[in-house]
Amino acid sequence: MRYVRIFDTTLRDGEQSPGCSMHIEEKLDVARQLERLRVDVIEAGMPVCSPEDADAVRRIAGAVQTCEIAALSRCVDSDIDLTWEAVRSAASPLLHVFLATSDLHLREKLHITREQALERIRVSVRKAASLAPAVEFSAEDASRSDPGFLIQAFRAAAEEGASILNIPDTVGYASPSEMEALVRRIRESIPQDVTLSVHCHNDLGLAVANSLAGVLGGAGQVETAVNGIGERAGNAALASVVMALKTRPDLYGAELGVNTTQLYRTSKLLSTVIGRSVPANMPVVGQNAFAHEAGIHQHGVIADRATYEIMTPESVGVYRNQLVLGKHSGKHAFAQRLNDLGYTLSPEGLDEAFERFKTLADRKKNVYDKDIEALVGTQEQPSPLSWTLVRFVVNSGTSISATAAVTLRRGDEEMEEVARGEGPIDAAFSAIRKLAGVDYELDSYSLQSVTEGRDALGEATVKLRKGRHTVTGRGLSTDVVEASIRAYVNGINKVIG
Ligand code: KIV
Ligand code: ZN
Repeated sequence: MRYVRIFDTTLRDGEQSPGCSMHIEEKLDVARQLERLRVDVIEAGMPVCSPEDADAVRRIAGAVQTCEIAALSRCVDSDIDLTWEAVRSAASPLLHVFLATSDLHLREKLHITREQALERIRVSVRKAASLAPAVEFSAEDASRSDPGFLIQAFRAAAEEGASILNIPDTVGYASPSEMEALVRRIRESIPQDVTLSVHCHNDLGLAVANSLAGVLGGAGQVETAVNGIGERAGNAALASVVMALKTRPDLYGAELGVNTTQLYRTSKLLSTVIGRSVPANMPVVGQNAFAHEAGIHQHGVIADRATYEIMTPESVGVYRNQLVLGKHSGKHAFAQRLNDLGYTLSPEGLDEAFERFKTLADRKKNVYDKDIEALVGTQEQPSPLSWTLVRFVVNSGTSISATAAVTLRRGDEEMEEVARGEGPIDAAFSAIRKLAGVDYELDSYSLQSVTEGRDALGEATVKLRKGRHTVTGRGLSTDVVEASIRAYVNGINKVIG
């Protein structure tokens, strides 16, 4: 068996894709969860993109102890300095530099020759290696580069001190057999002590297959993103790559450091943070991944689960526990269930979550695991500037225009506004907008039921936008108008924060 590193780029390639931007505290939550999951590397961002990105990298570098923290930089002198500045305080920093190597990119995007590209790689990797203890070089658009030139570029990077050479299938163009052959050829042409990495995009739905083919070809690192988020159709989905490698040691011969029982929890957290639900049929972490509907399947599973399950739900952190909690459940039982679900809360976080659980249990007879996950996922970190909902009244119907009166509190101050709208939710949002005076537009709004039944919890998600900056607000209640108002207020608090 050989060790295969999992390099997670959710917070860089994933975060830069449309609709996936995260607030700095949310990035920290995701980074801490990735640490619990025990990925080898967390790519925390690309500091040159904005001061906020640089700050996020700095904060993650300070908060995470047991994973390497990578930050991405172009092969530009000043970018490398800035990137190193942001990531240098990490316990194990990894400076990641990239330059395209395909003729198409060199000619049309960078307007440089192959010789100039080689020189830029040498100068940049040399500089990165003079600063950081570990350097990764990525050859952007590697799969569409001339393999001979690609090898020249990788040799140059290795000679200048890169210890990881990454082969991105930047536009998801490769096929698995090509990827395996390419990695094998590069493996034979570069020093053995250098780790080869693969980074595959999903434009043709082949990101996971290509990543696994890369491992067969000799890659010792795979770059992934939680729930497969990333540019365009995304990156290789972390849970699929990890579970394929774990489930088939006979085929891949790979050993991993990942704690797979945190996979489901990680997927859930990201989906809550970016307000994008996981498709039910998503491999490993989707709601139906372990559901058996057909009678013949159910029959088989009852006799022996292995008939239709190639991995256990428990191995990825999905528990079959059907016990429900209710209003008589105590804090101990609640804490135990949180622990079973893979949540580690601070004592204050637990107190706050338990209060919210009690309120929920008063309104809802049975509290299911999914309710608890949603509850913890919408926990706020209040600041003195935060608004909280005190009360609201809405009035709507087929023959009247909707009105809403909303009262919010900030500190000791309570304020009320009344507004009209296209429906009760639009009216309530208008009232809140007037109260808070925040000029962000409502970019999207969605509402989904967490569990089934008449008293099901509704989880509302709003995205607020100003220019390129978006925030995601979430709210939870058995009353859908209240859930929506709470989501809007949560979004506003993030804008203010
Ligand atoms: O897809 C890509 O080529 C990348 C590199 C910058 C690693 O994300
Ligand atoms: Zn990428």
